[in-house]
Formats: sequence, C-alpha cells, structure tokens
Amino acid sequence: MREEPTGSPPWPARGRPAVVVTGASSGIGAELARIAAREGRELVLVARSAGPLRALAAEIAAAGGPAAHPLPLDLAAPEAAAALGEALAGRGLACSVLVNNAGCGLIGPAAALDAGRQLGILDLNLRAAAALALAALPAMLERREGGILNVASVAGFLPGPGMAMYYASKAGLRSLSEALWAETRGTGVTVTCLCPGPVDTPFMERAGSRSAALFRHMPKASARAVAERGWRGFRRGRRLVLPDAMAWVAALGAPLVPRALLLPALRRLQRP
Ligand SMILES: NC(=O)c1ccc[n+]([C@@H]2O[C@H](COP(=O)([O-])OP(=O)(O)OC[C@H]3O[C@@H](n4cnc5c(N)ncnc54)[C@H](OP(=O)(O)O)[C@@H]3O)[C@@H](O)[C@H]2O)c1
Repeated sequence: MREEPTGSPPWPARGRPAVVVTGASSGIGAELARIAAREGRELVLVARSAGPLRALAAEIAAAGGPAAHPLPLDLAAPEAAAALGEALAGRGLACSVLVNNAGCGLIGPAAALDAGRQLGILDLNLRAAAALALAALPAMLERREGGILNVASVAGFLPGPGMAMYYASKAGLRSLSEALWAETRGTGVTVTCLCPGPVDTPFMERAGSRSAALFRHMPKASARAVAERGWRGFRRGRRLVLPDAMAWVAALGAPLVPRALLLPALRRLQRP
C-alpha cells in the first residue's frame, strides 16, 4: 500500500531562543551566521560538512559571540526537518529565526544532466526549505516572535535555460516566501525573501561551471554585503530584499523583455 507523505512534527516552542542557519559552512550562509551572532542569540549551524561548521562555531566563540552548535545534516534527506527538531529539543533550544539558505545548482541542458541530481536540487532548494518553514512556523506564531529569511535568487523571477531546475526551485521558493509573508502579517512573525544576483562564493564552481558567461562577465557582489542587506531587510520585516542595483535590474527589468529575446540570451549566458 502507498504511504501518505508526512511532514516533520512542529519544532519545540519552549527553550532558549536560537537562530538556525542552513548552508552555514560557506558563502552567504556563513556571513549570515556571523551577522546573526551580533544579536547574541545561540546559533545552530547546519550543512553537510562538519569541519567548516566547527571552525565557524569556534570563530564566533573566540570573538565573544554566543554559543554556536554545529549540526552536520544532509537537508535533502526526507527526515532532515524532523532530525533538526530533535536536535533543537535535545539542546533545550526553540527556533526563533530560521535562515533557509542552503542551496545548490547544476549547469547544463536538463535533458543531458542526471535526473536524480536535478531532482535533488528541488529537494534541497524548495522541499527542504518548505519542510523547515512548516516545522518552525507553529512555535513562532505561538510565541508571536521571530521569522524566516529565505535565500532565493533573482533566478526566481525568470525561466533559466541551461540551469532550468535551479531557476524553477528559486521561483517556487520566492512564491512560497511571499505567500507566507502575507499570511503572517500582524502576527509578530515575519518572512523575508532575499534575492541576490551573482555573488562571489563557491556556488558556481559547485554547480559545474565557473566558465559560464553569466559568471565571467557579470559583476559579483560580496557574500558579506549581500548577507548584511538581507539581514537588515529581514529585521525590518521586508517581503523582498533585492540587495543591489544588479539584482534590481535582473529581477524587475528582465521579466519585461519579450521572452523570444530573453530566453536565447539567458541560454547563451549560461553556456559553459
Ligand atoms: N552565489 C551566487 O551567485 C548566488 C546568487 C543568488 C542566490 N544564491 C543562493 O544563496 C544560497 C547560498 O549559496 P552560496 O552562494 O553561499 O553558495 P555556497 O558557498 O556553495 O553555499 C551553499 C551552502 O549550502 C550547503 N549545502 C549544499 N547542499 C546541502 C545539503 N544537501 N544539505 C545541507 N547543506 C547543503 C553547503 O554546505 P555543504 O556542502 O557542507 O553541505 C553550503 O554551506 C543558495 O541558496 C544559493 O542558491 C547564490
């Protein structure tokens, strides 16, 4: 008999307030964790690689910051949200802020790339982010405090030939994030979607191509600057944060260009 899919049980509502940052082992996530540490709340640092998480936790402690708990976890696994909830309960923590930042992409035409790896992009960028948000929100709403910062991308405003699954995942995350922002108005809880353009991190290398024209020719923002603007926008309760002029042009200008011109141009930009 086919089993119905079930979500994670809600995360604990009682405990010391903590900021959970996914994808904290590098790039934008590590910077967001450093910035969140300034507020003094304990941190839970999530990614697959234990070493960089431990190093970041030690760095935060050495700088006089709050306790940071490294939690090595593959978020693409279906049981990840439940495992995170157990880890919070086990440490006496309640998630006050969830930063859904972990993400990955893959360059190439969809029909030529491995199907499992492509579906893994949806599992991490969209399904895991949604599962964590659903697990975290009930306790936040009960306490009428906290919120979620979703790291999507300007890719969430466009179709992306040459990186189709990544763009689709970010469109889904942006849509979900904006809907949750509206649903949580007036509750004391806020949901923000950060949509950067190209950022200087290991992301593109991992996606299979630093040589794509998109990355070679476009100016890249620093992870620090993007994280600072994202966090500030989140603390101000913004629905959407476009962190720089490049992101504004890509997110708001590009969708106005006729698809017949835009799609071939994007395809060229994303060719290795
Ligand atoms: N760089 C850009 O140009 C750019 C632009 C717009 C949006 N973004 C978005 O920004 C976010 C952060 O990316 P980044 O640029 O900082 O890239 P990054 O340096 O590659 O960081 C990605 C993070 O996600 C973690 N991660 C990957 N797969 C995971 C999994 N299965 N389970 C748990 N953690 C996982 C990685 O850690 P482990 O490998 O240790 O698991 C790493 O900490 C992503 O959502 C990305 O889509 C990036």
